[in-house]
Amino acid sequence: MPDARGLFLTFEGGDGSGKSTQSALLTEWLASLGRQVVHSREPGGTELGLELREIILHRRGYMAPRAEALLYAADRAHNIATVVRPALARGDIVIQDRYLDSSVAYQGAGRVLDPAEVRDVSLWATEGLLPDLTILLDLDVATGRDRLDDSRTRYDRLEAEAAEFHHRVRDAYLALAAAEPQRFLVLDATLPIDELSTRIRERVSDLLA
Ligand code: TYD
Repeated sequence: MPDARGLFLTFEGGDGSGKSTQSALLTEWLASLGRQVVHSREPGGTELGLELREIILHRRGYMAPRAEALLYAADRAHNIATVVRPALARGDIVIQDRYLDSSVAYQGAGRVLDPAEVRDVSLWATEGLLPDLTILLDLDVATGRDRLDDSRTRYDRLEAEAAEFHHRVRDAYLALAAAEPQRFLVLDATLPIDELSTRIRERVSDLLA
């Protein structure tokens, strides 16, 4: 990652874990400190990504797991090359909802592909970019499902998967965090919103110091 001078912070977690709430709060806080912050997400952080997102999440019919993994990787490759790396090169802080750990957890463990191969595909796609910090909002699967908005008329292809799929995803996230404790901050997503944001700020402050 030779051109990166900024900070790359990612949020991970299952459905309903509160990633978007916490990443928005962190973005606001850092901006209030006068930092240049770019808030991004995968899939769909770019125009191309929005088209890919529609295909990945809402296309009807069977999609081969490797095709799904490559579509996420394509979205990621474009987002990193056109949004994230330029921002990091400017010295900005990039806060992103989901990154390669999502692929390892959902496609690697959820779809039962080889997690190491899925990670390698993402590392190829991004020329080896890893986050400086990954905040994992850990939540038990049933609670996450309950938190999804009941009024939703359509669930995406991943949300519609059975509970066992989401249990594999959660276990994979926890294993990833255990394997790289210096990169991950694991938080209990059932904590109150302001307590979570305080803990996240403390950890990010250490990185800024
Ligand atoms: P997202 O829009 O972040 O949904 P949510 O609000 O539930 O977090 O992500 C859409 C779905 O895509 C989500 O179910 C997780 C899945 N996903 C993968 O399976 N692999 C990936 O690499 C990424 C980035 C997301």
